[in-house]
Amino acid sequence: MLDGNAADHSKMSAQPIADLNAEWSARDLAAIWHPCTQMRDHARGVPMTAIARGDGAWLIDANGNRYLDAISSWWTNLFGHANPRIAAALKDQLDHLEHVIFAGFTHEPAIRLAEELLRVAPAGLARVFYADNGSSAVEVALKMSFHYWRNAGQSGKTRFVALSGSYHGETLGALSVTDVPLYRATYAPLLQQPIFVASPDAYASEPGESAQACALRRLAEMRATLEQHAHEVCAVIVEPLVQCAAGMRMYDPAYLTGLRTLCDEFGVHLIADEIAVGFGRTGTLFACEQAYAEPARGGAPEQRGITPDFLCLSKGLTGGFLPLSAVLTSAAVYDAFLAEYTSGKAFLHSHSYTGNPLACRAALATLGMFRDEPVLERNRALAARLGARLAPLADHANVAEVRQTGMIAAVELVRDKNSRAPFPGSERRGLRAYLHGLDHGLLLRPLGDVIYFMPPYVITPDEIDLMVDVAATAIEAAVR
Ligand SMILES: Cc1ncc(COP(=O)(O)O)c(C=O)c1O
Repeated sequence: MLDGNAADHSKMSAQPIADLNAEWSARDLAAIWHPCTQMRDHARGVPMTAIARGDGAWLIDANGNRYLDAISSWWTNLFGHANPRIAAALKDQLDHLEHVIFAGFTHEPAIRLAEELLRVAPAGLARVFYADNGSSAVEVALKMSFHYWRNAGQSGKTRFVALSGSYHGETLGALSVTDVPLYRATYAPLLQQPIFVASPDAYASEPGESAQACALRRLAEMRATLEQHAHEVCAVIVEPLVQCAAGMRMYDPAYLTGLRTLCDEFGVHLIADEIAVGFGRTGTLFACEQAYAEPARGGAPEQRGITPDFLCLSKGLTGGFLPLSAVLTSAAVYDAFLAEYTSGKAFLHSHSYTGNPLACRAALATLGMFRDEPVLERNRALAARLGARLAPLADHANVAEVRQTGMIAAVELVRDKNSRAPFPGSERRGLRAYLHGLDHGLLLRPLGDVIYFMPPYVITPDEIDLMVDVAATAIEAAVR
């Protein structure tokens, strides 16, 4: 049995300690095919770690070893593993309703969750469509935008605009608007061809150019693209503020303000994919809230926020307990689908587990924590600690940049600091950092040579110190 008792028992035994991790690892590797993995790596020394249980910011393996989860298990786990409040909500829901078809039927958790999401989301969003993972949410937003224009008599709009370095998921539609070569290149022949426009990524700014100036320059390029293509474009899709899978590349919020204006001017939708950055990651509940407007004559910029036409949410939505996603959209979009049955205007997209009651209860418990506790305020203090502890790494000879937006921070490793020339990918420096982290009780999962931190919000200041101390030694091991 893979549970905590088994692990504890093995530790207490006077007999030679059983290596349960090795046993489970061997059985796993004989039967399972893991995501985002060259499986042969596991035959060549990359361990397969069997996790028996979670405890706050920590994961505990089958042998009782503890790992601090610096990446919130692929950015999902906001309030710690085995969070008691979410667990209690699920246990209660299990005794009432595990699932029900969501066409023609509904249930209280889905209704309450939709109401709560609309209450906290940017003003102007009026409808919630559920799906069951991030990629599905992106599929829904793309199809809905296309179908909206078709219903509105503009069937020439069939394309999408996405940013360089974008990542929106790996199903074929979501992968079509993804630009990260690792995921896209092999499958490119199967994909739609969107129009990729240069990202406002501040790491790629010109020498001496501010992040804001870079964002505004990139907006001009977006304008030029829309001038040429708006007639055939349904929507622009972006990851607000941080392009996570591209290596936690960050950009100035002025871009979002300008992009909203451009989308309105050229009659295309704006899809905000907050699957990774939503729910407090960037410092505000949603990253779109940080968009600001320049005052007319000097003065401080005014944070106003923008409302996208589609807001895609997943990952942290259930606090990392169950898969669920939601696409929020406006009344204008919803209304365009209301017509006679025979008109073909109804939105056709259905997943068997749409609006699963258990997942909705987990999400309600998660949102309840944002409502009842000063989460964003606490995160500000934690983010400040993280930033202060990481800052000295900026002087390291192999660090090109230390960057941070709220509870996301990243250290970009390079071979040459002055030219920012990267290490050859074949050297897999990030993998060395990952292995070092595991050996020292820290779960890092570098994106290429970018070591990043996206810890659960329950991490303590002391655990932040520990995380950064171990990461610093992992960086040394990686660049050596
Ligand atoms: C911005 C963004 N969009 C979409 C996705 C896809 O979500 P999922 O992995 O649940 O399909 C991800 C996953 O990392 C993401 O970061």
